Amino acid sequence: MAKRDLLSIDDLTRAEAELILETAESFLPVLQRDIKKVPTLRGRTIINMFYESSTRTLTSFELAAKRLSADTMNVRAAGSAVDKGESLKDTILTLSAYQPDIIVMRHPQIGACLLASRFTQASVINAGDGKFQHPSQCLLDLFTMRQALGRELDGKKVWIVGDILHSRVARSDIAGFQLLGMDVTVAGPPSLIPRDVESLGVSVEYSLDRLAEADVVYLLRMQMERMQEGANFIPSLREYSTLYGMTLERLRPGQKVMHPGPINRGVEISPEVADHPDTLILEQVEAGLAVRMAILYRTIAGYDERSADERGVA
Ligand code: CP
Repeated sequence: MAKRDLLSIDDLTRAEAELILETAESFLPVLQRDIKKVPTLRGRTIINMFYESSTRTLTSFELAAKRLSADTMNVRAAGSAVDKGESLKDTILTLSAYQPDIIVMRHPQIGACLLASRFTQASVINAGDGKFQHPSQCLLDLFTMRQALGRELDGKKVWIVGDILHSRVARSDIAGFQLLGMDVTVAGPPSLIPRDVESLGVSVEYSLDRLAEADVVYLLRMQMERMQEGANFIPSLREYSTLYGMTLERLRPGQKVMHPGPINRGVEISPEVADHPDTLILEQVEAGLAVRMAILYRTIAGYDERSADERGVA
C-alpha cells in the first residue's frame, strides 16, 4: 500500500477533510473517560521530529499518539546529531531504520517535509514548514469552528487579521476554510499582505472598519522570526496594536475570536479579548488533541469509512 503523507491542506479533498473532522468527533468520548486510551495504533511507531520550537503541536501530536497506544519518540534539532552537522537526508535515513509508520515533522525551511518524504517509507505529516503550510492547525481550526458555529460552515465569514505574509497558518487556513465553503477575508497592514493574495479567492481589507461582518475573527501574531533583519514591515508593535490589535470595542457581541497561539497579549490581542468567553483559543488547543488523533489514525488506516468498533473506540 502506498504511504499517505499530509504535507499540505491541498492534499485533502473536502470529503477527506470532513472524514478527519468526523473521526476526531468520534474520539471525543475517549478523551472524557478516566482511562483515556484506546488500542487503535498499538504496535505502530510515530516519531515527532521538531527542528523549530513548539508547545501546542508537539505536545498534542505526542499525546495523540499515546492516547492511541502507539510507540512514540521525540527528536529535536538541539541535542541531536544535527548539532554535529548531520544533514536532513541522513537524519531521516537514520530514523527510518527503526521502521516508523509516521514521521511528524516541523522545520524552518519551506519544502523540508516534502524532501524528507522522499527518503523514507514512513508517512510524513507536516507540523509546520517555514511560512508554507501547517495543515493540522487548519483541521483543528475547522473542528473548533464546527463545534462553535454548527457543522455547516458553508457561507460563514472569517476574517484572518495580522501578519498574513509570514504565516503558514494563514496559507493552510485560507485553503482549508474555502474547502469547507467559508468566505475568507484577510486584513492587515499592506506590507504584511502578500501581493497576489486575491488570486487565492480571498477579499482584502487594510482596515478593520467592516470587521462586524465576520462570524469569526482569526488573529495572527507578528512572525518576527521570519522577518528579514533590517526590513521594516511595520513602524512599531505599538502602532500595529493601535491599528489592528483586537479589543472588545472592535468586536461585535457574539463574534468568535480565534488564534493559533502563541499569543502576544497587548499586541494583536488585548488581555480582555484573550480571556473572553467568545474567544476560542483554549478550545482550539483542546481540539488539537482529538484532531491529531484522527490525523494519525487516518494516515495509517486510510480515508474509507470505518466503524467506531474497528477503531477500538466503542
Ligand atoms: N499553533 C502552533 O503551531 O503552536 P506551537 O508553535 O506551540 O506548536
